[in-house]
Amino acid sequence: MGLLIQSISTIFLWLSLFGMPLSGSAQNPGNLSGARTLDAVLQEHGFGALVRPKTGISYDGTAPSNLTGVKISALRLHSGSLKARGVSHYKEFDIPKGVIVAPYSQRLVFVYQNLGNWSDAYYPLPGFTYLAPILGLLAYNGSNLSATSLPELNIMASQDPISISFSNMGGAPSESTPKCVWFNLHGSVNFSSLLLGNKCNTTQQGHFSVVVVAVSEKRKSKKNWIIVGSVVGGLLLLSLLAVLALWTKKQWYKRRILDMERASDAGEALSMTTIGDIRTPSANGTRTQPALEHDYVP
Ligand SMILES: *[C@@H]1O[C@H](CO)[C@@H](O)[C@H](O)[C@H]1NC(C)=O
Ligand SMILES: *[C@@H]1O[C@H](CO)[C@@H](O)[C@H](O)[C@H]1NC(C)=O
Ligand SMILES: *[C@@H]1O[C@H](CO)[C@@H](O)[C@H](O)[C@H]1NC(C)=O
Ligand SMILES: *[C@@H]1O[C@H](CO)[C@@H](O)[C@H](O)[C@H]1NC(C)=O
Ligand SMILES: *[C@@H]1O[C@H](CO)[C@@H](O)[C@H](O)[C@H]1NC(C)=O
Ligand SMILES: *[C@@H]1O[C@H](CO)[C@@H](O)[C@H](O)[C@H]1NC(C)=O
Ligand SMILES: *[C@@H]1O[C@H](CO)[C@@H](O)[C@H](O)[C@H]1NC(C)=O
Repeated sequence: MGLLIQSISTIFLWLSLFGMPLSGSAQNPGNLSGARTLDAVLQEHGFGALVRPKTGISYDGTAPSNLTGVKISALRLHSGSLKARGVSHYKEFDIPKGVIVAPYSQRLVFVYQNLGNWSDAYYPLPGFTYLAPILGLLAYNGSNLSATSLPELNIMASQDPISISFSNMGGAPSESTPKCVWFNLHGSVNFSSLLLGNKCNTTQQGHFSVVVVAVSEKRKSKKNWIIVGSVVGGLLLLSLLAVLALWTKKQWYKRRILDMERASDAGEALSMTTIGDIRTPSANGTRTQPALEHDYVP
């Protein structure tokens, strides 16, 4: 019985080791300080594109030459108009009305990032493959356009969520479900469902993309299930053999007792006593003792 309980708990331990959840939130295993340094660099270069900017018009900036492949843009707005009207189709982002800025700043600047082929370098996500580049949307105080190292303002979609359209998405390998991934500015990662039309919803700023579980990871998990399967199968077989062995032993005892009873019937009747669930012949001291098998014939 102890063996059986031990086997079952071993099985559950294996299952819990391999049943890793692939949704929910987690800490970004990548280099947060690297990503935050990049945000600061891109804020500066994005603001650089705003020379006598018109409110509500988007200006494309130029990323530093050692970040070729990264695209940036900046857009200056009045907080009041952001809240009242939103911004339809700012690049891949569709910002509805009802977006609130905190702390309140009369003017703000949205810096847009498309990290292109730098996505993996700055936002590594082991076990997943990106189907789209990382897109960033960050809000800054728009009062001083020469300011650098600005902290981000908080934004919150208080009515409809902000929607992001991933138009040029790489094909998803068959039998895999793409997921939206969101990195907030504190290094935490959240997954959510990809919506119709390759869209993701968000209520906050940060960095966004679409991922699938990497093929190598799926092979690994298949291999793990094969291991779990063999262990469980092996344990079941062992338990079966143990039960069979016990049963055989019990049958063997029963037969021996029957033989002894038969042997004693030929001579003198022996009274039976019960030890556990096995009936066994017993006799009072002075009588001839019951002997084994056929060695003793009276
Ligand atoms: C992150 O994901 C978890 C699990 O899916 C969810 O409960 C939580 O609300 C998400 N956090 C945010 C800020 O959306
Ligand atoms: C993280 O990024 C910073 C800034 O880019 C860099 O100095 C540092 O070496 C990186 N750390 C690791 C562990 O990659
Ligand atoms: C790009 O160059 C700047 C200096 O001009 C340097 O501080 C930064 O670390 C470089 N970034 C990368 C990704 O090489
Ligand atoms: C935005 O910047 C201006 C000028 O630098 C400053 O006066 C104001 O307090 C800032 N607002 C916020 C909310 O940080
Ligand atoms: C991205 O592509 C550009 C050329 O388009 C190249 O110079 C750069 O090194 C690439 N970045 C990475 C991280 O491979
Ligand atoms: C704007 O920021 C720059 C750079 O930090 C600073 O030199 C300048 O004094 C600021 N201007 C105002 C009006 O705050
Ligand atoms: C995403 O946003 C759209 C538009 O506001 C909304 O209709 C939809 O219910 C949202 N979906 C989820 C899963 O939040």
